[in-house]
Amino acid sequence: MRKQIAAANWKMNLKSTEASTLLNELLAAPYALKSHQEVVFAVPAIYIPLAVSTLVGKANFFVAAQNCHQKNSGAFTGEISAPMYASVGVKHIVLGHSERREYFGESDALLAEKLNAVLAINSTPIFCCGEPLAIREAGSQNEFVEAQLKNGLFHLSAEEIVKVVIAYEPIWAIGTGKTASSDQAQEIHAYIRTCFAAKYGDAIAQEISILYGGSVKAANAKELFAQPDVDGGLVGGASLIVSEFEAIIHALK
Ligand code: PGA
Repeated sequence: MRKQIAAANWKMNLKSTEASTLLNELLAAPYALKSHQEVVFAVPAIYIPLAVSTLVGKANFFVAAQNCHQKNSGAFTGEISAPMYASVGVKHIVLGHSERREYFGESDALLAEKLNAVLAINSTPIFCCGEPLAIREAGSQNEFVEAQLKNGLFHLSAEEIVKVVIAYEPIWAIGTGKTASSDQAQEIHAYIRTCFAAKYGDAIAQEISILYGGSVKAANAKELFAQPDVDGGLVGGASLIVSEFEAIIHALK
């Protein structure tokens, strides 16, 4: 059974005490997570030790990094590598978020290198893809996303690809309050799965978790996650609000 994941993407938000309060309040609620359900917090790098120590002993809860460098070490001032994250207890790394692609010029080729670095140490990449508004309006979203997958991921072996979590995030829905409808999400998630099936076979494609991201909130999470090919969400704004993210965790199927 593939994993169902509620992933919080805090982006560049919260001061240290706010981060600590948010985590503690969220963890105060009871969650009866099943073995295939996970909650992941992609926190700013500086809060990783705080988050890791807060989550000690919480089965199925994980801390993630929001990015990493493609090299393991070296003269790259200001950067953090995948092995460095692993050394402090972080084994999930978000890669290729649309904000990194847009504001930091991350290309599919660079993301392919970052993926290799993350997989080489057995960590879990959460690989983001998704189209801008103009592409959606032109009806070319499937081709656009397929190219992102091909260029970023298709060099991986079948053994490697099953370790990757996909986050489909249409850029027009991120932080805009505009969510893809559950039908729109299901349609493209199913398409993404057919791309994996064509390359790696159906059994492998069925193992890959595909999260939806873009204005996921308490009010729409249940319907989105109920779709057969939607395996949870990557959540920005609503992950900063205790009651919202709590409800999103409860919406996992
Ligand atoms: P949002 O962000 O939930 O605020 O739309 C999602 C994301 O960027 O991962």
